[in-house]
Amino acid sequence: MTLPPALLKGDELFEHDASAQYDASRDLSKYLLMHYGSLEDLFNGGQHPLAPAHGYCQRLSDLLRSCAEQTGTTVARALDVGCSVGGVTHALSGWVRDEVVGVDVSQRSVEIAQTLTEHGGGTFCVIEQGPFHREVVIRVAEPGQRAAVSFEVGDANALRAPEEAFDAVVLSNVLDRVQQPAACLAQFSASADILRSGGLLMVACPWSWYPEYSVPSEWLGSAATATPSEEGLKALLRNDFELLAEADEPGLLRQNPREFDWFDSHVTVWRKR
Ligand SMILES: C[S@@+](CC[C@H](N)C(=O)[O-])C[C@H]1O[C@@H](n2cnc3c(N)ncnc32)[C@H](O)[C@@H]1O
Repeated sequence: MTLPPALLKGDELFEHDASAQYDASRDLSKYLLMHYGSLEDLFNGGQHPLAPAHGYCQRLSDLLRSCAEQTGTTVARALDVGCSVGGVTHALSGWVRDEVVGVDVSQRSVEIAQTLTEHGGGTFCVIEQGPFHREVVIRVAEPGQRAAVSFEVGDANALRAPEEAFDAVVLSNVLDRVQQPAACLAQFSASADILRSGGLLMVACPWSWYPEYSVPSEWLGSAATATPSEEGLKALLRNDFELLAEADEPGLLRQNPREFDWFDSHVTVWRKR
């Protein structure tokens, strides 16, 4: 068996890294671990109080699958917007019929996702403490056991119309990272070019708004009208979509064995009218 390729090297984790956010080695290491790491990889073995937050990508994929099954929606092609290193893309490929496409603005995330897809996995390093790091080996399903998977660099606010519209679109933890979240969503309702009528839209977001990403007037919801982001999202989508499911899904980004960023994404699944 050939050795899996090195996706990230350990020394990179401790260098000053002036890369754009999401291209930095530390961030990519955290997303690789969150998307593909086992419980053992995440917590260095043993029981851990944060263990229920493991498996975020698979849980999103399972929820979308159950909505597709309940509504009798055939999902032949799916799009994962803001895919990072592709954990949701790969989870979807376990049940989507033909093809899953991941799009992200981060060139380095896309390159890593492409490399691990091509080689069936790879190795990367996670920070332990100060200068110590640990190597993690990850694997993804072979092409014969999943739908086709591809990744491309693209902007969530200016998505390329595919030759054939997608049957499902996932936006996981990206809407509060784009400059114009409402305009991003409008791409899926305004026409059937990207998401077909009857298709499914999944929006997962912890609603962590920062002016570095979008000006406050763009944030979904409004303090003036006491409207939380959850309701702001529903107001934007309810004319063009039927709400199928609503849930909270926790996830975990590991800084080191003693520090974790826990989030609880608000997840909704919608069927386009
Ligand atoms: C918080 S991460 C979420 C990654 C992954 N979807 C998940 O749920 O773990 C946000 C991702 O969105 C990407 N992103 C930010 N702005 C974007 C844009 N305008 N277009 C496409 N991707 C974008 C970032 O590069 C990053 O990979």
